[in-house]
Parts: sequence; structure tokens; C-alpha cells
Amino acid sequence: MEAQLSVRAILLLSLLSLLSLLARSSSVSHDIQIVNAERRIDLTSHIVKVFLTLKVENIGSSPVSDIYLAFPPTQVDHLALVKAAATVGKRKKKSYLPLEVNPTELPDAPNGTKYFSISLVNPLSAGETLTIEVLYILTHSLEPFPVEISQSESQLVYYHDSAIILSPYDIKKQTTFLKTPSTKLESFTKVEPTNRAGTELKYGPYENQSPHSFSPIIVHFENNNPFAVVEELVREVEISHWGNLQITEHYKLMHAGARHKGVFSRVEYQSKPSFSGVSSFKNLLARLPPGVHSAYYRDEIGNISSSHLRTDPWKSELEIEPRYPLFGGWKSTFIIGYGLPLQDFLFESPDGRRYLNFSFGCPLVETVADKLTIKVVLPEGSKDPSAVVPFPVEQHLETKYSYLDIVGRTVVVLEKRNVVPEHNSPFQVYYTFNQVFMLAEPLMLASVFFFLFVTYVAYLHIDLSIRK
Ligand SMILES: *[C@@H]1O[C@H](CO)[C@@H](O)[C@H](O)[C@H]1NC(C)=O
Ligand SMILES: *[C@@H]1O[C@H](CO)[C@@H](O)[C@H](O)[C@H]1NC(C)=O
Ligand SMILES: *[C@@H]1O[C@H](CO)[C@@H](O)[C@H](O)[C@H]1NC(C)=O
Repeated sequence: MEAQLSVRAILLLSLLSLLSLLARSSSVSHDIQIVNAERRIDLTSHIVKVFLTLKVENIGSSPVSDIYLAFPPTQVDHLALVKAAATVGKRKKKSYLPLEVNPTELPDAPNGTKYFSISLVNPLSAGETLTIEVLYILTHSLEPFPVEISQSESQLVYYHDSAIILSPYDIKKQTTFLKTPSTKLESFTKVEPTNRAGTELKYGPYENQSPHSFSPIIVHFENNNPFAVVEELVREVEISHWGNLQITEHYKLMHAGARHKGVFSRVEYQSKPSFSGVSSFKNLLARLPPGVHSAYYRDEIGNISSSHLRTDPWKSELEIEPRYPLFGGWKSTFIIGYGLPLQDFLFESPDGRRYLNFSFGCPLVETVADKLTIKVVLPEGSKDPSAVVPFPVEQHLETKYSYLDIVGRTVVVLEKRNVVPEHNSPFQVYYTFNQVFMLAEPLMLASVFFFLFVTYVAYLHIDLSIRK
């Protein structure tokens, strides 16, 4: 009897949850409509930035607290970042309230559509409207075509998207603008109305598009900007309580544009710089924190002297020049190192713990890092490390031994894939530290000297006794 009852209860519960799921999935598209959408796609660098302005309206009868964004599966793999903010106030008094965005699943996603949910700070009541600004960034989304070019050719690339914004909601009115780096546009798909003016392509306005509408487009255009991709970057940040922060960065850099065809002529490259190797790059800029000292730049051969460090009270810029210009498909491996004053980056939190506050990301300007590893080497004797990073990263701990270490140093390892310049935001590593360990190093040094001294005396003694 009892068993039967509970079975019934379970059946009832699952039926209820199924109903609520159905209610949820239908409310996703029926409670919200997008009154107006404007999308601006910036194709001027190799990192694609998309700015989306959505004016959403709650046409249902109950408050809504999540707004969903939809992406085709091919784009999701290249998505480095999605940010959203609600606009508050009008015109001159306009301000932005950051909103949390998280990947999510929705039932019955057509054609493998992927979703992100934007959590509203205050639920949108029935009948209300809200303007949301979204920024998302795509990497490796410009496909060179032709795939190989010679030194004198310009680089052309394809960009794939949809003329109509993919969305789980009805969109009353929408327009998309694409900005190309130059006016050299080979071809583009027309979805009327489509207009072109200078470096801008305009798709729309389109009216009354139903949920999940999609209309594929291809734009083929010139883009000679440096396709600088760091396949792997390892940044080691070593804290020494003696006042220094030592940074060592290992780069595996690649030109990810159209592959270079034929032989490289340095004579042609140097004599006609304006049209020889236009898509190649010969120098790179690293933006470093202010206060940098003893900077160096070297590769497997040795120190490279062609680097210039400019510093002012707000920032430092290190301009580096690899031994040869980089053409499509070419790689360069190098190391940058520098020191920083510890007091600018190490602080004490109110609970007495110490923490490092440093910048995440890759210091090279307009560069994608396919894989970034940050290793924070804590002073010997540090305990209970914990990292605070404003986006998801993989974490683990390692131990590093260097000379004079007794128990080794704890290393907090943070790893992230698909890193773009927008990831250059501060992160913190907290730890506790016992002052006694400040004495460990000098004690070690003293004992080493003492040992040497004793050995020397013993040696003298033996020496003397032999002479006798
Ligand atoms: C799914 O993709 C197919 C083929 O690309 C297309 O014809 C169809 O309209 C798409 N369905 C939806 C719901 O988007
Ligand atoms: C390379 O540069 C560093 C820093 O300037 C210096 O300490 C080192 O001695 C140099 N090495 C060589 C081989 O020149
Ligand atoms: C970390 O440093 C940044 C400036 O570089 C500052 O805005 C931020 O408040 C600092 N964070 C903490 C937790 O100290």
C-alpha cells in the first residue's frame, strides 16, 4: 500500500516537473519579444567583436528574470567571451549595469543551437521594456581565402554569419552592420535590403522575424592586420618577499593568416615595404604594468637587442622585434622577462591574509592566446592559497624547488583557453604566510657559509698537518 502510494507520488512529481519544463520552454519564446535589435560586427582585426543592442519587452503576464542569447554551434566553439549590461537612465545620464551571463541549455534547441542566459538584476515585469547591451568576441573566425599567398599579395578572408540575428524570440525590427578594415570587398551575400557604403555593409532593416530564423551570409574581404596568435603562453609570476615580483613569459607565437607561398625576399621586403608582405608583421607591442625594470627579450639563439622599453607612471610598453618578419604560417618562440616592485602588487586583506593582485591575459596587443597558463610562485612557507579570477579557469597546485629552498614553493597554476585582450583584467591569489619563513633563506645562506667555512678550516688544518 505504502509502496504504491510513493510510486504514485513519484509519477505525479515527474508529471509536474515535465509540465513545468514545458511551461518554461514555451514561456522562453512567448513572454519576451525583441522590439528592436541592432548588431555591429567589427571585422577590422583578426579578433571579431560583435556589439548587440536589444530592446526587450515582456509581453507575458509574469515577471521574467532571464533573457536568452542564441548562437549557431559553429560560432560557440570560437566564442572567447560574452558580456552583457543593462542600460539605466536616458541619453546623457545613461549608465551600464553589468549582468551575469552563463551558458545554458534549453529544451528542443533546433539545429544544435547553443544558448547563454543573461540574469537580470531586477526581473522585468509584465509590460516593461529594457535595453540590454551585449558584447561577444569570436576568435579564429576569419578564414583566409586563398589559403596561400605570395609575398606581394594582399590577404583576403571569409566571414560567415547570418543576416538575421539568431534568437529564441520574435524580433520586430533588426539591422546588422559589418565593418571591414578597407574598402576592398571581393563579394558578399545579398539578403535584401543589403547596402554597402565605404567600409560598411548594412543588412536590413528586417521586420517581424520569427524565433530561430537564420539566413546564412558570406563576406569576402581584404584584411592585412597581423593575425597574431600565441599558440601557447606560460607566464610565471614569482613573489619574493624581499621586494620583487619576477615575471617570465614563454611565447609560442604564430601568424595564423594565409600561408606564405614561395621564397622570402628580404630585399623586396625592405625596398617596397608598402606592398611587400603587407599581411606580415615585424614588430609587436607588449603592454606591461608601470614600474617595469630589468626587462629582457630572448629566443633560443640568445638575447635579442631590438627591443625598446618605454615607461611612464601609468604604463610600460615593450616593443619587440623578432629576428625575421612573420609571414602566414610562420612561428617564433621567445621569452620576455621583467621585474616589478612588489609593493604595487602585493597587499594585505582585512582578514590578515596576503594577496597578489595582477593582470590576467596576454600582454601582446591584439593577440589571441589559444592556451594561457599563469603560474604564481608563492614564497616558501605560504599556506592555504586560493585564486579569485573573474571568469572560469582551470586551477591546480604544483611545487617548485629552487636553490636554498627547504620545503619548496607552492605554485598556483591557472589555465584558460581562447584568451583575448578583454581578459586582461585583475585577478587575485590569496595566501597565508608565517613570518618565521622570512628567516629561512638567510638562515640557509648562513649555514651554507658556515659549512664552507668549516670545510675550509678543516682543509687548512689537514694541509698544515701534512706540511708538518
Ligand atoms: C535547420 O537547418 C536546416 C538546414 O540548414 C534548415 O533548412 C532549417 O530551416 C533549420 N531549422 C531551424 C529551425 O532553424
Ligand atoms: C641577456 O640579457 C640579460 C638581461 O639584460 C643579461 O642579464 C644577460 O647577461 C644577457 N645575456 C647575454 C648572453 O648577453
Ligand atoms: C586590483 O588592482 C586593480 C587596478 O589594477 C584595482 O582596480 C582593483 O581594485 C584591485 N583589486 C583588489 C582586490 O585589490
